[in-house]
Amino acid sequence: MNRSVLITGGNRGIGRAISEAFLKAGDQVAVAHRSDDELPDALNLRCDVTDTAQVDAAFTAAEAAHGPVEVLVSNAGISRSAPLAAMTEDQFSQVLDTNLTGAYRVARRATRGMLRLRRGRMIFISSVMGGAGLQGAGNYAASKAGLVGLARSIAREYAGYGITANLVAPGLVRTDMIEEMPEGMRRHLVDRTFLKRAAEPDEIAATVLWLAADGSRYITGAEIPVDGGLRLGA
Ligand SMILES: NC(=O)c1ccc[n+]([C@@H]2O[C@H](COP(=O)([O-])OP(=O)(O)OC[C@H]3O[C@@H](n4cnc5c(N)ncnc54)[C@H](OP(=O)(O)O)[C@@H]3O)[C@@H](O)[C@H]2O)c1
Repeated sequence: MNRSVLITGGNRGIGRAISEAFLKAGDQVAVAHRSDDELPDALNLRCDVTDTAQVDAAFTAAEAAHGPVEVLVSNAGISRSAPLAAMTEDQFSQVLDTNLTGAYRVARRATRGMLRLRRGRMIFISSVMGGAGLQGAGNYAASKAGLVGLARSIAREYAGYGITANLVAPGLVRTDMIEEMPEGMRRHLVDRTFLKRAAEPDEIAATVLWLAADGSRYITGAEIPVDGGLRLGA
């Protein structure tokens, strides 16, 4: 493989495992993130997905180094949890702006190269919580549910141009993000997971790599759960 791949939030957690999997497959990987935490062997691009100009600059740099982006993994995400009565508009809109509008910004910019190539794969990292809801995190769940509508609309709009759009919906994954979660909530979610543990990031990356592979060319508009059974609950 020698595809031009761009992964938002590709420097840490799930995104890092996804980036490493594409690098291992021989692809040319650009990772877009805000912090100094860089991923060796990848093209590290400073890019906050809440800023349209930074998104545009990151794609321009990736295109100059690797050619038009053929595989986009929209993974960057945050959580800012609070019960609804205490959730500020800032908390709500920061999460939506990063997780959902950020995905729209990168997907829109990616269409430019993909339409020219007349092929492309867009893969969005949603969450089992998008469908199920998550107590104390309505902003997060709403952002992930919104991704489903976005990805399926893209799948419809661009199928004729050889572009597919799919989602991977993890359950609980061992990253910094779940460190911020109250211990009681984490235990409750592990208890509801059939496999009785959180996933390792590489267990999510394997599905993303598979969705980007040639053999998955007939899959579009799908949301693939990788959640150890959590969505079915107890
Ligand atoms: N962990 C879980 O249990 C779980 C479950 C389901 C879904 N997910 C989803 O999986 C994705 C990755 O989560 P994770 O667990 O790996 O979280 P994480 O360890 O906290 O990593 C988040 C990543 O997103 C990047 N990021 C955050 N805001 C950004 C912004 N405005 N612009 C660019 N990059 C930004 C971060 O990089 P910088 O800080 O360097 O910017 C980092 O690479 C998220 O969409 C999350 O919602 C996670």
